[in-house]
Amino acid sequence: MNRPENSILVIFGASGDLTKRKLIPALCALNMQNILPEKFAIFGLGRTKLSHDDFRDLMNEGIKNYSDSYDEKNVKPFLKKLFYQYIDATHQDAYKNMTTKLQEIRKEMGVGGNTVFYLSTPPSLYAVIPKNLAKHNLNNENDGWKRVIVEKPFGYDLKSAIELNHSLHEDWNEDQIYRIDHYLGKETVQNVLVTRFSNGIFEPLWNRNYVHHVEITAAEFIGVEKRGGYYEKSGALRDMVQNHLLQLVGLTAMEPPSAMDSNSIRNETVKVFQSLRPIKEDDVINSAMRGQYLASTIKGEKIKGYREEAGVDPNSKTETFVIIKFYIDNWRWGGVPFYIRTGKRLPTRVTEAVIHFKPTPHYLFAKKDICESCNQLVIRIQPDEGILLKFGMKVPGSGFEVQNVNMDFHYSDLCNQKIPTAYERLLHDSLLGDSTLYAREDAVMAAWKFLEPVLNAWKNNPKIPVYGYPAGTWGPENADNLIEDPTMTWRYPCKNLSNDGVFCEL
Ligand code: BG6
Repeated sequence: MNRPENSILVIFGASGDLTKRKLIPALCALNMQNILPEKFAIFGLGRTKLSHDDFRDLMNEGIKNYSDSYDEKNVKPFLKKLFYQYIDATHQDAYKNMTTKLQEIRKEMGVGGNTVFYLSTPPSLYAVIPKNLAKHNLNNENDGWKRVIVEKPFGYDLKSAIELNHSLHEDWNEDQIYRIDHYLGKETVQNVLVTRFSNGIFEPLWNRNYVHHVEITAAEFIGVEKRGGYYEKSGALRDMVQNHLLQLVGLTAMEPPSAMDSNSIRNETVKVFQSLRPIKEDDVINSAMRGQYLASTIKGEKIKGYREEAGVDPNSKTETFVIIKFYIDNWRWGGVPFYIRTGKRLPTRVTEAVIHFKPTPHYLFAKKDICESCNQLVIRIQPDEGILLKFGMKVPGSGFEVQNVNMDFHYSDLCNQKIPTAYERLLHDSLLGDSTLYAREDAVMAAWKFLEPVLNAWKNNPKIPVYGYPAGTWGPENADNLIEDPTMTWRYPCKNLSNDGVFCEL
């Protein structure tokens, strides 16, 4: 694998959770694989006062707690690459000190001027920090490339996303801006492209002639945990649908790219977003449904309802569950319904894209043995990553009884193949200057544009219900009503309750 050029990664919000849980363990894993730049440093900036050593200790704990494996022999030299400084990133003057320290580290570590700035901060700083960096000439590429990674959410709605984009573009070129969507960094999400475009057998069927409908689910067992304050302002639509789920739709529905490069791939996904049939505000009630989890008892344990979570308004109408039905108006998908579903406090954690194929044109076998959509291709994004094909098979014995069976591939069957985390892939790509797996501005705007009527209808029309669902169930009882074909329901990949992360029967 390529080794990026010598460089430094500057993390704003380095004393926060994301840095400790995801970024540093990912960077440490890259270091172990020997694919970080030969000369490399990480400069953490945050509002907590820490010395370099405090920061190193904290990150060491993060690596211990959130990595698959911990090997002191490898971690120790990695920690020496870490530096820290306190910053109040809203104060312009603070960037003077920061620049001085940055120069010192660059010199000490011999890393040169190539720099990635990572904004792991509250969204209110996404415009402020890049602007202040530019005021201190830190966007200038004379002494090496400069890139800025912006975490999600990119904007709060279409208007704020346009404003944020505009503000960034005043000082940074589009090719310097990396909008992160960690779903795109998942190995199995990228495998959607490989499954589709490296096999001759799926793609001929991957269209309106053979596909009955497409269903994409991202279910979580956990609730909002300690993020009630953030979630109240976001809700599932902004938190999961605008980014992760629509990106999955993009990869599942796109045309083959002309080449496997950043622009060719992103050109195709954006065409999908631009072809989404607009949902009219007054039709939102027929195309989308929202829900909120209620208190319940799971395996003897009392689970709080959303409104009882810390930081949540006791009368909150924020959705923790969303489903949307929509169409993609193009030649490939004309008339094929797409369904997306996401929610917190569902029975299990599972993300999957399911292609439901049309039934045979003529029933040779007893009707009772046929289901409307026996053939499903299930792309399991997580956990227990893999691919499953469902098809009908003869039950041994007399007659022609048909039974639906599974052909199942699990990534875990590949010996010695560790699946890299999404952040490993994305951070490595950002150092290499490969933005293929980052969201481009036009895609982000198209996604907001598509969801704008839903956001507006939910805000403006109090008659649109927020259905309650007991924690540990598959959402509102009437969720199946949105499925167009009355003989069909959502797929319920886990019939029995499982604990978080424990995968249950498909
Ligand atoms: C984040 C959301 O982007 O994705 C969280 O803000 C959500 O609310 C998380 O829990 C889900 O990610 P994953 O990788 O666990 O499916």
